[in-house]
Amino acid sequence: MSWNSLWFSLVVLYLSSAVCSAKEEWWQHGVFYQVYPRSFRDVNNDGNGDLAGVIEKLPHFKDAGVDGVWLSPIMKSPQIDAGYDISDYYTIEDMYGSVEDLKELIRKAHEIGIKIILDFVPNHTSNLHKWFQESEDNNEDYKDYYVWADAKGDGSPPNNWISVFRGSAWEWSDKRQQYYLHHFVKEQPDLNYRNPKVREDMKKVLVHYLDLGVDGFRIDAIPYLVEDKELRDEPRSFNPSATPMDNDYLEHIYTNNQPETYDLIYEWRKLVDDYTAQNGGDARILMTEAYADLDHTMPYYGTADGSTKGAHFTFNFFFISNFNKNISTAHDIARIVYTWQNALPSIYTSNWVLGNHDNRRIPTRLGVENIDGFNMLVQLLPGIAVTYNGEEFGQEDGEVTYEQGKDPSARNRSIFESASRDFERTPLQWNDSVNAGFNAGAEPWLPVSEKYKELNLAYQLDENVLSHFQIYRKLTRKRKEDATKSGTTDIWAISDDVIVLKRSYINQHTVLAFKLGWHGNTEEETVYVPSIKAKEATVALTNVGSSYEIGSVINPQSFKLKPHESLVLDIVC
Ligand code: GLC
Repeated sequence: MSWNSLWFSLVVLYLSSAVCSAKEEWWQHGVFYQVYPRSFRDVNNDGNGDLAGVIEKLPHFKDAGVDGVWLSPIMKSPQIDAGYDISDYYTIEDMYGSVEDLKELIRKAHEIGIKIILDFVPNHTSNLHKWFQESEDNNEDYKDYYVWADAKGDGSPPNNWISVFRGSAWEWSDKRQQYYLHHFVKEQPDLNYRNPKVREDMKKVLVHYLDLGVDGFRIDAIPYLVEDKELRDEPRSFNPSATPMDNDYLEHIYTNNQPETYDLIYEWRKLVDDYTAQNGGDARILMTEAYADLDHTMPYYGTADGSTKGAHFTFNFFFISNFNKNISTAHDIARIVYTWQNALPSIYTSNWVLGNHDNRRIPTRLGVENIDGFNMLVQLLPGIAVTYNGEEFGQEDGEVTYEQGKDPSARNRSIFESASRDFERTPLQWNDSVNAGFNAGAEPWLPVSEKYKELNLAYQLDENVLSHFQIYRKLTRKRKEDATKSGTTDIWAISDDVIVLKRSYINQHTVLAFKLGWHGNTEEETVYVPSIKAKEATVALTNVGSSYEIGSVINPQSFKLKPHESLVLDIVC
């Protein structure tokens, strides 16, 4: 959807009121960095990343200016859905290491002031989990652990629900002579949260990891936690591009974001808050994953008055779901920022996300030349910044053939190119040695992109040469300086192609001016910073390849930007 309404072009968006750092907790201004462990760093050279690799790279997080590292799932799993199918919540997956490795990671991370967040996958288990096997056997203690239902008279599934990964959300069990629900692949049976024993068991998992010292959880796939009790059919969405196999063929009024689902998040928030109150130390935090509209997203934070709290933050996916270089413009950036900030009750903390393991990487999706501009945007917007591993040095999607692909959601040739998530999951490109420094030469689980020969972190470590990584480092450092100040934020799309963001701290202003270079906008454009009287601005940072020099002085009332050029300006007035 394009939101190119003209009236938006020059609207001043007054976004945040003063935030006093004294009251801020560690996570409120944090940079959260997602590690995709299987592709991160493979120390034992078995083709899969490991916890030893994350430990080895701790200095990189520190250097990058990261506050919290979120690890995609590391618990025992047959890896049908890359670890999002857990067969034992209490054991670390062999290929990643052991609980001792996790403890060492937590200890060493804490020594250098970095928090460790684990991915928690509560909606479903693996079909190899013993709870499911007991449940399928109809064992009294476990028979209601999952969502089971009888076939219709003709043997067909109990209703029309469709899996996120296409096709019916129901799978027949010969053993139990019933269908079970799976919102994702059939190897991911859906837990039944109407069963208090399931709720208790999952709380025990949280406490187990809190006791090991983790600083919080990213909670996976929360919209699907609870479904309609009566299992009613969902109505058609009439989405013109959806086939009857596709999840968005239906409107998910009975399977997504049910009232009981919010209650669960609120219960888990109480659990982590109580844990912190009893054990001391910094807040343990929850971040939740919900691709939903604004009305259904915001209550995951808690009630509007803050009397009941939910996640510390729920990912802001609007720059992923509603933003696309083929149809979007600078007005959409302003609109996304504005609508999010306006919908978010002021007691809660914003967050900005442009990439993760489920979506094409930023350079691939939004333009290779725009990586610095988008990193600047995410780091300068108020609140929390989220980075997917590799974004800090501009890693692009890798090249994966259908034969090499692993993503179960795209094991079908006709949708592989458009739906596979393998491309954004290829190993990290650390340097120009064998397998990009991911490991010592064993065949990686997904191929290393050939691009590593030109694009790798090692090439960007020289602090005296402007590179994507040096820009990222400077931005995270700037955030930390600004975190101690009270401020306000304004954003303008001053043309279809240029976005201007202004953070103001009394008479000091940090400004981003960024020309996207989309839709044939290949000409240089004269731009300005609205609502600034000053005639001088110092260029604090530029994108790689900009014609401006860092430290030079320009006139913020009128200056030129080339396509893909982005400048951070310091203005005092
Ligand atoms: C979340 C994860 C995704 C996974 C799905 C099922 O959306 O991010 O990778 O496939 O949940 O667990």
